Amino acid sequence: MGRKLHFEIFRYNPQDSMSVPHMQSFFLEETDKMTLFIALNRLREEQDPSLIFDFCCRAGICGSCAMVINGRPGLACQTQTKDHPEKIVLHPLPIFKLIGDLAVDTGVWFREMYQKTESWIHTNKAFDPAQEEERMENAVAEQIYELERCLECGCCIAACGTARMRPDFMGAAALNRYRPLYRGPPRRADRTAVLRYRRQRLRHLRLYGPPGL
Ligand code: SF4
Ligand code: FES
Repeated sequence: MGRKLHFEIFRYNPQDSMSVPHMQSFFLEETDKMTLFIALNRLREEQDPSLIFDFCCRAGICGSCAMVINGRPGLACQTQTKDHPEKIVLHPLPIFKLIGDLAVDTGVWFREMYQKTESWIHTNKAFDPAQEEERMENAVAEQIYELERCLECGCCIAACGTARMRPDFMGAAALNRYRPLYRGPPRRADRTAVLRYRRQRLRHLRLYGPPGL
């Protein structure tokens, strides 16, 4: 017989005028290799169909299941309940717009960040859809491989105290966009982007930031 898990989950539906933010307790028997993905789906199916949370890939690829798990941002589908005590407290990621309960909209934040940083390949060449993509040297591709794998999960932003205090601070995910531009010869990083990258190097990257920064 598995442990009896006590989930304390943030509840609030901004679409419902009667909804008031509060924490709600749920109890569930732990099963072998149970992830938070499994646990939350069981809670929704067996106990409360109104529970709101996001999942898409269940494989640590899409980034949509990020939430604050016992005080630390993480991916729920990659988190096993056995690695936590019997009481598991779940909150939505801060900073991002709340959709409801544990689900947030990271898309608006990331689109604004890309627009502010202009972190895409800048070129004066006319776009020719018939042309092949510009090739990148293998050595450069290997160097930036990890950085290109950002899931846009938002964990590094949610964990960043400065991002909470300053809405104009873009944190590790933005640095992650600059780094390939800064390193890759085929890509022309504009000077402002490089300077911003250098200015924003911060200690919290060691904890939540992408590897290699
Ligand atoms: S850089 Fe930030 S947003 Fe991207 S995968 Fe890492 S923690 Fe998630
Ligand atoms: S569901 Fe896609 S990363 Fe967790």
